[in-house]
Amino acid sequence: MEGIFITIEGPDGAGKTSVLRELLPRLEDAMTIDIVATREPGGSRIAEEIRELILNPANTEMDVRTEALLYTASRRQHLVEKIKPTLARGALLICDRFVDSSLVYQGAGRGIGIQEVAEMNRFATEGIEPDLTLYLDIEASVGLERINRSKEERQFDRLDQEKLEFHEQVRAAYLTLVEDNQERIILIDAAGSIEEVVTTCFNLIKERFPTRF
Ligand code: TYD
Repeated sequence: MEGIFITIEGPDGAGKTSVLRELLPRLEDAMTIDIVATREPGGSRIAEEIRELILNPANTEMDVRTEALLYTASRRQHLVEKIKPTLARGALLICDRFVDSSLVYQGAGRGIGIQEVAEMNRFATEGIEPDLTLYLDIEASVGLERINRSKEERQFDRLDQEKLEFHEQVRAAYLTLVEDNQERIILIDAAGSIEEVVTTCFNLIKERFPTRF
């Protein structure tokens, strides 16, 4: 039996983490399938160590291609150790960020180019793709405002430090990805309340995989 692979994506400040915190227990109550939540970069011991290296605000001299390689390396390890085995045993795996994040942050935001980053990721994932991607859409300026407001509770990482223009490029690239992958990626307006966004995500998953409820 094959599992279900769902990813959640969005610009910084879209609220992915808060949404997942409420969405997961709702899915666990309603679904007949085992659910595993994980995140990138990270999700396994080695991948979490790479995460520390990438996001450490002190690493100001990190080259953009080094950054892209590290995200991809961390993804490969996570895929082999966690994603593949979880899907192989027929569970539902929900991952906070995946390849799309690299396409928009490194490909567009850092200016490496979407195609080059996509190729590097194909090497790492061997073509494994999510069955469904929930994209939480928020305007870059609103996302950054949210991050600044919650600075005390949340770790402020190296990418959060980037200027508004960087985050605008990231969001624009996400919108293009949605356009180009309409079957897989669903856009959800994340400007509303957490509760509204959680309910929309829940209903979308139920619509897409009705036999697992
Ligand atoms: P994340 O832990 O999801 O933080 P947040 O809660 O701020 O979304 O991701 C950390 C940062 O890493 C985030 O700014 C997005 C960035 N990122 C990339 O640039 N490329 C990638 O491939 C991934 C997975 C994340």
